[in-house]
Amino acid sequence: MDKLLIHGGASLKGEIWASGSKNASLPILASVLLCDGTVTISNLPELQDVITFKELLVALGVKVIAHEEATLEVDPRCVNSLTAPYELVRKMRASILVLGPMLTRYGQANVSFPGGCAIGSRPVDLHLGGLEAMGAKIEISDGYIRATCADRLAGTRIVLSSVSVGATENLMMAAALAYGTTILENAAREPEILDLANCLNRWGAKISGAGTRKVIIEGVDRMHGGCFEVMSDRIEVGTYLAAAVATSGKMKISRTDPKILEGVLKKLGETGAEIKFGNDWIELDAENRRPRSVNVQTAPYPGFPTDMQAQLTAVNAVAEGIGIVEETIFENRLMQVQELNRMGAKIAISGNSAVVTGVKRLKGARVMASDLRASASLVIAALVAEGETLVEEIYHIDRGYERIEEKLCLLGAKIRRSNQ
Ligand code: UD1
Repeated sequence: MDKLLIHGGASLKGEIWASGSKNASLPILASVLLCDGTVTISNLPELQDVITFKELLVALGVKVIAHEEATLEVDPRCVNSLTAPYELVRKMRASILVLGPMLTRYGQANVSFPGGCAIGSRPVDLHLGGLEAMGAKIEISDGYIRATCADRLAGTRIVLSSVSVGATENLMMAAALAYGTTILENAAREPEILDLANCLNRWGAKISGAGTRKVIIEGVDRMHGGCFEVMSDRIEVGTYLAAAVATSGKMKISRTDPKILEGVLKKLGETGAEIKFGNDWIELDAENRRPRSVNVQTAPYPGFPTDMQAQLTAVNAVAEGIGIVEETIFENRLMQVQELNRMGAKIAISGNSAVVTGVKRLKGARVMASDLRASASLVIAALVAEGETLVEEIYHIDRGYERIEEKLCLLGAKIRRSNQ
């Protein structure tokens, strides 16, 4: 198993670029199944989750015409299986996103039930309830969700009882080819939802209101496919900026959009870092400054993202003062705390909050990554810590961070991958 060896102490300085967004890529890959023409997706990040999604599409019969660098060209007209098997779904919960597209296009879909995961139970009731409201019949048997619909799904008004990114995406895709209009209320407003809607519209759908609480989807008879460039990854950008704050560094990140990082930039600014930005770049200067602690509460977009919570916990671990980090989206997402404490952090857990008393120094240790963002927080801690840290189980990191060693090396970090 690969590990990352990090020798801490260097302030991160330099310029890097943002990769394509993981969380936008996955639903866009799922929406390939809606089209009856070829599709070309560019700016796809080179990540394990993208590879797994591609494997899932291939297992369904989608033909890969070319996959070079960040661009994938596929032909979805040869789909010959409507089953997303356990072996692939268990690797990546986001596989549930093929449910809506397969059902609406082919009238049937069998998707292995995604189980819980490290950060909580993560049910899919909102996905299933929405599809049922559109006329789907759903049965759960042998660990599979078996969904069918007689003719076409029928557009309707769906009010989501709580905000869910995945359910919003699945239902938007299902409604794209449904008969009539679907109104999705209390929809998630994450930028990745807007990117998906832009992509679907480019490929022939008729969706308005994405990025607001009310999304209106007028069903169309067919989607022709075409090209689409995936947006850049705001969580990746936030993670590197958090690393710059923790290591008292200075960093410029290009190919990004500061507007969709507002909540994160506000918090990083509160640590004392100076932040400047233009249309597609962000510059953060925290040189010669120990960060001040910040209080953080996660919330659906435009609030502070749960996917940045662990990284801010790591920043608080070395900041001046006491910072409280409250997780409100997932019930078990403070897994990084135990490992950070093994590196000398002083963090207590109280309910769904981490009470972080900043220390001047962390010490390198052997630590274990438990999920994607928890792993990122361990890397940040390792970059600040005295001595060497060995981060194990880094396949989690490879699910979400493209070329992490390369980018960190460019910024002056002492990091290398080992499979010993
Ligand atoms: C997506 C992101 C993930 C991010 C999360 C919240 C992708 C691939 N993943 O995950 O990185 O952390 O949004 O921003 O885009 N819930 C239900 N029933 C459902 C669906 C969700 O109760 O049917 C609950 C979940 O358990 C969770 C909350 O709603 O507590 C939010 O989950 P959701 O927004 O659906 O997260 P994902 O789409 O799985």
